[in-house]
Amino acid sequence: MRTILVTGGAGFIGANFVRMVLEEHPDTTVVNLDVLTYAGNIENLKGYTANPNHVFVRGDIGDAALVAGLMDKYKIGAVINFAAESHVDRSLVEPGVFIQTNVQGTLTLLKIALEKKIERFVQISTDEVYGSLGPEGFFTESTPLAPNSPYSASKAAADMLVRAFGHSWGLPYNITRCSNNYGPYQFPEKMIPLMINNALNNKPLPVYGDGLYVRDWLYVYDHCTAIWKVLTKAPAGTIYNIGGNNEKTNLEVIRLILNRLGKPHSLIHHVKDRPGHDRRYAIDSAKIMKELDWRPTVTFEEGVNRTIDWYLANTDWLKHVVSGQYQQYYESMYANRR
Ligand code: NAD
Ligand code: TYD
Repeated sequence: MRTILVTGGAGFIGANFVRMVLEEHPDTTVVNLDVLTYAGNIENLKGYTANPNHVFVRGDIGDAALVAGLMDKYKIGAVINFAAESHVDRSLVEPGVFIQTNVQGTLTLLKIALEKKIERFVQISTDEVYGSLGPEGFFTESTPLAPNSPYSASKAAADMLVRAFGHSWGLPYNITRCSNNYGPYQFPEKMIPLMINNALNNKPLPVYGDGLYVRDWLYVYDHCTAIWKVLTKAPAGTIYNIGGNNEKTNLEVIRLILNRLGKPHSLIHHVKDRPGHDRRYAIDSAKIMKELDWRPTVTFEEGVNRTIDWYLANTDWLKHVVSGQYQQYYESMYANRR
């Protein structure tokens, strides 16, 4: 029996990861530390809060006393750090909180992980730390970091701290850098659920700029299996890129959603672009495929169908998350893009 500390486990990817671990690895206990920001939602863990292998704790990764207490109390063997501010557009409006959580919060976790001699620290990073690609080529693990947004800059800073703790004091770490995820429980500030929600409500779909920006989409479950492989099989001190080998322009994705929902393409509205918008992300996943025998299992068409079916079947979840604060967010974020 192992006990892991998952941070940010009430967010999109964290909750999918916690669900996967509880379903597929019953020899593992998950201590789930999440402060429940606007993006964290206990409803994402519905059906699992009473699971005997799951302990949910509401708290901040920057609270050193709390984190140290949890590590002692539950004899934590590994930390998987998902907790973060994760949305690029928000980071362009309010970067401070990204530094606070993504950099300062990670630093707190690292210090305590080192002090408590944690066996493995897995930092969940992003391909966005590499910056933007032109029409050709892929990010590999040795691509230099060149983050372009406050979000990606804060994630790159955290990666560098993790690396420095490994280099200076021998903290056994891994860093994973994944491409864009999609699937159930994603907060509708991100492109795919935002477009699904707007289309369902016959609202215009705000496409930034020409809509020809390219992302390499990966179904969230496949990201979770990759993280599990890294946690259980990777040597310490290694970095793995994770991607779906599935490049699509934003317009391609949006058209697929509209077709699947039977909604008219006239809902597409080109709006003012995101400042500093990264043109293309594409991941070379050869290392994790070769060394850890990981493969994505869900095709994009299947993943989008599953995702849309999930949002259609979970209208209550969607209604709850888009009430109140979300409306204010939407008004202020999209007001000056019209
Ligand atoms: P999310 O915004 O849906 O969830 C983040 C979670 O962290 C929320 O539950 C939030 O309450 C929690 N949190 C925030 N600040 C906290 C703090 N100070 N203490 C404790 N909990 C805190 O994000 P996500 O999309 O699930 O992303 C999870 C991780 O994966 C992030 O580190 C992100 O950088 C990384 N990532 C995301 C993607 C993607 O496509 N979404 C791709 C690659 C990497
Ligand atoms: P997003 O989901 O925010 O992920 P990221 O910026 O981290 O890749 O955006 C994905 C792509 O969709 C990105 O090119 C920006 C674009 N986009 C829109 O065109 N309109 C929107 O309303 C949003 C949220 C994103």
